[in-house]
Amino acid sequence: MSDRQQSRLLDPNWSYVGKATLDEFGAAEWQILKAQRAPYMAEQHANQVLRLLAASKDDPTFGYQVNNFRHCIQSATMALADGRPEDYVVAALLHDIGFIACTPTHGAFSARLLAPFVGDDLVWMLERHQYFQAIHFHDHPDVDRFAREKWRGHPHFAMTAEFVAKYDQNTIDPGIRELPIEAFEPMVKHVFARPPRAIPLPD
Ligand SMILES: [Fe+2]
Ligand SMILES: [Fe+2]
Repeated sequence: MSDRQQSRLLDPNWSYVGKATLDEFGAAEWQILKAQRAPYMAEQHANQVLRLLAASKDDPTFGYQVNNFRHCIQSATMALADGRPEDYVVAALLHDIGFIACTPTHGAFSARLLAPFVGDDLVWMLERHQYFQAIHFHDHPDVDRFAREKWRGHPHFAMTAEFVAKYDQNTIDPGIRELPIEAFEPMVKHVFARPPRAIPLPD
């Protein structure tokens, strides 16, 4: 190790490369990282996603009767109660994880988060759910309720319309008895433990 000040987060159970720039790395350094990446991700990946969501647990809302955290939990609770598959429940849980941090493109946020681990239908649904939801915005002053018509006829149109109708537009209800986030931990861990599928390079 160099005499640079070491992070207090370094863990004695892990090996650390002694080089501080990627340009200095050789095969030995890459081998250390390759060997430790999988166990690290198995330990940390799902937990970090769950912490991202849980971080907003006590945040206020700007007018809804439940905050975004409860909305996400309610969506997943109702999907689970309806017997939806594990992937669908996890998609429901995370569909608005970026709603505050990334509002205008929060559908893409959750879609990219789950894209390596769930099917194309759910990724498509997540990315567009915010536009499909607009059909439920009656009397909204400045939203195109019919934005979803752009995708009319697409194979995933119906499932996306159903998602927002059953698990999104109505999960802002303080009367819903949502499950604790811990109830979804095994599902999130299972989904993120899959080998990630390859994602094409961006254009
Ligand atoms: Fe949303
Ligand atoms: Fe939502």
